[in-house]
Amino acid sequence: MNVLILGSGGREHALAWAIAKSSACGRLVCAPGNAGTARLAENAVLDPSRGDEVVSYCRREDIDLVVVGPEAPLVAGLADHLRREGALVFGAGREAARLEGSKVHAKKWMRDCGVPTARAITVGSRDEAARALEELGERVAVKADGLAAGKGVVMAENRDAALDAVRRAVEEKVFGEAGSRLVLEEWLEGDEASVMAVVAGDEIRTLVPSQDHKRVYDGDRGPNTGGMGAYAPYPPLGGKALEAAVASAVTPIVEGLARQGIDFRGVLYAGLMFTSQGLKVLEYNVRFGDPEAQVVLPLLDGDALELFAACARGNLASAPPPRTRPGAALTVVAASAGYPRRSDPGRTITGLEEEDQRDDAIVFHAGTARREDGRIVTAGGRVLAVTGLGPTLAAAREAAHRTLATIRFEGMFHRTDIGEKGLAETATVNEETG
Ligand code: AMP
Ligand code: GLY
Repeated sequence: MNVLILGSGGREHALAWAIAKSSACGRLVCAPGNAGTARLAENAVLDPSRGDEVVSYCRREDIDLVVVGPEAPLVAGLADHLRREGALVFGAGREAARLEGSKVHAKKWMRDCGVPTARAITVGSRDEAARALEELGERVAVKADGLAAGKGVVMAENRDAALDAVRRAVEEKVFGEAGSRLVLEEWLEGDEASVMAVVAGDEIRTLVPSQDHKRVYDGDRGPNTGGMGAYAPYPPLGGKALEAAVASAVTPIVEGLARQGIDFRGVLYAGLMFTSQGLKVLEYNVRFGDPEAQVVLPLLDGDALELFAACARGNLASAPPPRTRPGAALTVVAASAGYPRRSDPGRTITGLEEEDQRDDAIVFHAGTARREDGRIVTAGGRVLAVTGLGPTLAAAREAAHRTLATIRFEGMFHRTDIGEKGLAETATVNEETG
């Protein structure tokens, strides 16, 4: 099969890495891709927001399957457009993608489908926000309704901070149009996990659960980012606990979509929080998480292309159910100076080997570009995601940091505490079961 992957981040490099291993993979193209995808695929100049361009590219280049990495083209309806033109697509249609494209819509779906989630009120002005705070309490999450690249949530510690966040969104338009409506949500406390499933119609194939680290600095300090690191498996979500989480967070949504006749062929991602009142869903995404994909795909035991193609055909039963390799994976994001406020492009990256895959680590490129003189330079806020693999989470973490220590670029920074909560949980789970 000839495959086209749309997108340019670490997730797309991980998708290319997983798909390239399949014996069924013919030509593999990434558009636009990055310097990492260029090593195992062809990069093409193609704008995923231009549906017609993608359609004619697929026809001209004999593409059999399109894999859509990021959310923006899905929310804009690219998958429907391609399907109408006869293409096979792994990616949610526009109607289903509203689960990610609008937080207001997602909250409504959660309520309608009986999914446990934080109490929330939609507001469009500072006055409405002031009234909402009386009901929700002073500590709230302020969320831009629309897409904001993982940066549209402000955790407000008190009334002033909440009203200021609302004012900046509504009046200063810091989130653009995405912030003209906001969801204010009660502040929940608990541990977070990401559960992703490949979904086609009412069929669900759950992948290994993972944990992302959204805050930019160690100790979960600083603003939210797209994600600074992740690991899998997430120890508390084994066996029965994972089944229970899927039953309350994934199945009701999938059944709700199927009941309404809304086509879903892609990845459903549930962002979960385990509170003292039980599990609550924080958000849904309609694609692989980034950087979760960089740990979940390396642990996938089986043929990723076969799984994605079966999903795209709407017939998941035709592919063997995905299994998870033993052991663990942990990825650490190397970011460029100023992230998440800005990025610092054009810095030369040293220490990258010709092969991205090393013995116990994989260097996934996120924001990188190759210059004509062969140098690989930074080209985004999140530059690399270095994934370590090992028999245990501790070994995977060791491997990630050992490899990361060989790589440099000016202004590079990363978190040093990715996986620490997981290591503590592993100890607790072992005590409880041993
Ligand atoms: P979201 O995009 O909705 O997943 O929010 C991004 C991040 O903000 C989450 O991963 C949490 O760390 C945090 N967050 C979102 N909503 C809440 C909430 N209601 N209570 C506490 N933290 C939250
Ligand atoms: N890492 C969180 C996300 O992809 O939305």
